[in-house]
This record gives sequence, C-alpha cells and structure tokens, in this order.
Amino acid sequence: MKLLVTGGAGFIGSAVVRQAVAAGHEVVNLDALTYAACLDNVAGVAGNPLYAFEHVDIRDRVALDRVFAAHRPDAVMHLAAESHVDRSIDGPGTFIETNINGTYTLLEAARAYWLARGRPGDFRFHHISTDEVFGSLPGDPSVKFTEDTPYDPRSPYSASKAASDHLVRAWHETYGLPVVLTNCSNNYGPYHFPEKLIPVVILNALAGRPIPIYGDGSNVRDWLYVEDHADALLLVLQKGQLGRSYNIGGENERSNLELVRTICAILDEKRAKPNGSYADQITFVTDRPGHDARYAIDPSRIRDELGWRPSVTVEEGLEKTVQWYLDNEDWWRALQSRAGVGERLGTG
Ligand SMILES: NC(=O)c1ccc[n+]([C@@H]2O[C@H](COP(=O)([O-])OP(=O)(O)OC[C@H]3O[C@@H](n4cnc5c(N)ncnc54)[C@H](O)[C@@H]3O)[C@@H](O)[C@H]2O)c1
Repeated sequence: MKLLVTGGAGFIGSAVVRQAVAAGHEVVNLDALTYAACLDNVAGVAGNPLYAFEHVDIRDRVALDRVFAAHRPDAVMHLAAESHVDRSIDGPGTFIETNINGTYTLLEAARAYWLARGRPGDFRFHHISTDEVFGSLPGDPSVKFTEDTPYDPRSPYSASKAASDHLVRAWHETYGLPVVLTNCSNNYGPYHFPEKLIPVVILNALAGRPIPIYGDGSNVRDWLYVEDHADALLLVLQKGQLGRSYNIGGENERSNLELVRTICAILDEKRAKPNGSYADQITFVTDRPGHDARYAIDPSRIRDELGWRPSVTVEEGLEKTVQWYLDNEDWWRALQSRAGVGERLGTG
C-alpha cells in the first residue's frame, strides 16, 4: 500500500513510518516540523526508496492537494496534531488551529482526491485519536473506556481532539468517506519527546535534578508501548471495519507514582548512583488544573475482532525505554534546548 502519514516526524508517527516501511509499504511522511518534530526519528528510513518526505502544514489546502496529486496514496494515517496537554493550557489557539481546522482541511483534501478517483471503496482515512476524549474515570477497576463511552473532554487538548473525531465521523456519514478511527491510551517508548512524563523522569533522574510528580501522584494511566501501538494502527488500517472506531490500550494501568518508582528502580539497576536511589529525587509539585484522575481502556473490540494484544508489560517496555535513553544521549540532548522543554508549563 502507499500510505500518506501525517505527523510522521513526531513520536508515534515516526514509529508508524518505521514499521510501515519495514513491512514493505510505500510511505509519504507529511509534517510541518513544529517544535515537537525530529527528522532523526526517521533517519533509518530516509534513504529508502519506499520513503518520501513532504514539509507541509495540514492547514495548507493548496499544498495538500499537490501532495495527493503527486503521490496518489491508497490511505491516509492522520497523526499530525498538537499533543501536549500542558501546552494546550497555556496556549489553546494552536490546538484549535491544527487539531480542528487542520483535520477539517485534510478531510476536505482527502475527499476531493477520493471523489476525483471515482470514490474507491478500499481508500481509507485513518484518524488517530486519544482516550482523553472520554474524560476521567472513577477508581473502580471494573469501569473502563469502551468505544461507546460518551465523550467528555476536559482539557483544551482533549476537546480539540474530540472535535476532530466528530468531524471524521461526520465526513463518513455525510459524504461516505471511508474512515476508521482509533483512540489510544498514553504511549511511551523510544523517541518520546523530552517534555513528556517518562522522558522527563529519566532525564531529570540522570541529571540529578528533582523528579517532578504532579499532585499526589495518584493519577492512573494505561501505558501503551509505542511499537505495540504502531503495530495496532497498521492492523486497524488494513483490517478494521469501515466507519468503526477501536480503542487501543496497553492493559497496563499504573499510578504516576508507581510508574516513576519503577523507572527509578530500573535506573538504580542500570546506572547506580554512588549513594541512595533515584527515587530520593522524587518531588511533589502543584497539580495540573483539571488533571483527569484515571484513564483505562477496555480493549475487547480490537482483541476480539482483530486479534490484537500488546506484546509487552509496562515493566518490560520501561526497561527497553530506559535503555534506549541511556544509549541515545545525542538524540535527547539536541532537543532539550527547544522552547519550553524543561520548564514547568500549564499551571493555569
Ligand atoms: N502520545 C500519546 O500518548 C498519545 C496518546 C493518544 C493519542 N495520541 C495522538 O497521536 C498522534 C501523535 O501523537 P504524538 O505523541 O506522536 O505527537 P507529537 O507531538 O510527538 O508529534 C506530532 C507531529 O505532528 C506534527 N504537526 C503538528 N502540527 C502540524 C501541522 N499543522 N501540520 C503538519 N504537521 C503537524 C509535528 O511537527 C509533529 O511531528 C496525535 O494525534 C495525538 O493526539 C497521542
């Protein structure tokens, strides 16, 4: 297949690009190269004849039309987005612009292309979204997000993603555009931008700085290893039912405090400090405004319909992730000088 992947220079998009090329798909990576992008993430495929890069913003309809006409993709995998909740609290405007207006512009460009080709039934527009659109869960472990959970977004980021999900469903119902959607839990793994929780913990620990935990650390997330997620996305694209959405989770619920303690224990093993544990650096800081208490995915649909399951536990995935950061200092050092990285953002 020939895939047009938006946001392929970001964290999850680059994992999709690397896996898709390895699986023999042709890939056009379309990315505006915002502060969150890093072309080094796809350096391993940059010289591959199956790979092409387009430096384009999804809000630019003229450029999108040119890309569709030039590359004639069989499917779009739409991952380009502003993705950091804390930045959405400080500056919601770009989230509305990219996540809502950008998705609208991309849908219209895809629809025009699909119509011009005679409405092929096997074309796919795959929209990648988040479980944060469902809001916050109570502590009861039997209650999880299903595909039928009502939307209840609570941050500017999740509200903008919810709006984009609604647009994609509307383009399917109204215009017949062949779409599939996925909503996934928190990802982690190699190439995770150093402003997100897990890299912040690893890099602050190594630098001997305080390891910040928002509030009391009781917020629970369902952690999904990024390579498992990319694998699930390629499966849904090819085997998912038209018009349907699939929740993708890691079946790995952990409180932030448990997660951070696990990372510290892995670092204690791999790069012991002369005295004490990295956990001694844990510092509780003011909570994020509107911080959702718990996210957890019920993955029954993707498991039962498509036979997908995560391949690693969070302990296994964290072990690989910590090792990757230890081995790839040049990658993360280069990103630490970008605007806002290392600062406390989103305090309201
Ligand atoms: N990271 C997670 O845990 C997570 C969880 C659930 C869903 N998601 C969703 O997955 C997708 C990818 O997330 P990520 O963590 O890889 O994000 P990321 O911030 O690492 O990467 C986003 C990429 O999109 C590009 N981009 C941003 N605005 C653009 C624009 N206007 N035009 C073209 N490109 C643009 C950036 O340059 C960057 O390369 C997003 O849609 C996000 O909402 C992420």
